[in-house]
Amino acid sequence: MPFANVHIIEHPVIQTKLTELRDYTADHRKFRTLLDEIAGLMVYEVTRDWPTMPKPIQTPLEKTIGHVLARPVTLVPILRAGLGMADGVLKLLPDARLGHLGVYRNETTLEPVAYYQKLPPDVADTEVLLIDPMLATGGSGTAAISFLKKAGVKHMRFVCLVAAPEGIQMLHAHHPEVPIYCAAVDRQLNEKAYILPGLGDAGDRLFGT
Ligand code: PRP
Ligand code: URA
Repeated sequence: MPFANVHIIEHPVIQTKLTELRDYTADHRKFRTLLDEIAGLMVYEVTRDWPTMPKPIQTPLEKTIGHVLARPVTLVPILRAGLGMADGVLKLLPDARLGHLGVYRNETTLEPVAYYQKLPPDVADTEVLLIDPMLATGGSGTAAISFLKKAGVKHMRFVCLVAAPEGIQMLHAHHPEVPIYCAAVDRQLNEKAYILPGLGDAGDRLFGT
């Protein structure tokens, strides 16, 4: 049953890299490279319908009207694992500013614990991409979106690699208007709220901790 406002990017190159990333034999070096590459590839689809505005320019031959992004872009990784997607996205959107939201799951209660927030001052009117490879219970993503809304953000998209049905349901129970972009919707969470089949602990695999 498809989820409303969820975009699954099933590009064959992304799926190939995601399969390599899931494989437990990928060490932190390979994991980092793959996460960076997949994030960059996802940007095309995630930004496909962003608004543009006309921009008059002068080519070497004559005046013409080009088109550029209508709003500045802010990239907001959820720490830690979201950092692994930031450079890949920035390669395509090099003018983006970066905000950071530190959120981790309490391993016992599974509740999100917010420990750091820093956003660019003009974030409210920008196009925000909130990035985190994993959407599991949805607690971290939901808390991050609530924080961005309090900061006045009006245009945002949540970009992850692997989403669990439980996480999609929680995120959209609180923030139904925020589109979710992912490379896969996996089967379910296990008893410790890890995604199955998933890819394990994204932060630990990325940073080798
Ligand atoms: C991971 C992941 C998400 C969160 C998803 O972070 O990067 O932020 O779990 O789980 P949820 O949807 O159930 O909230 P983690 O809490 O492991 O923190 P870390 O990146 O600092 O290791
Ligand atoms: N966080 C992760 O890094 N992986 C999961 O499977 C769930 C939450």
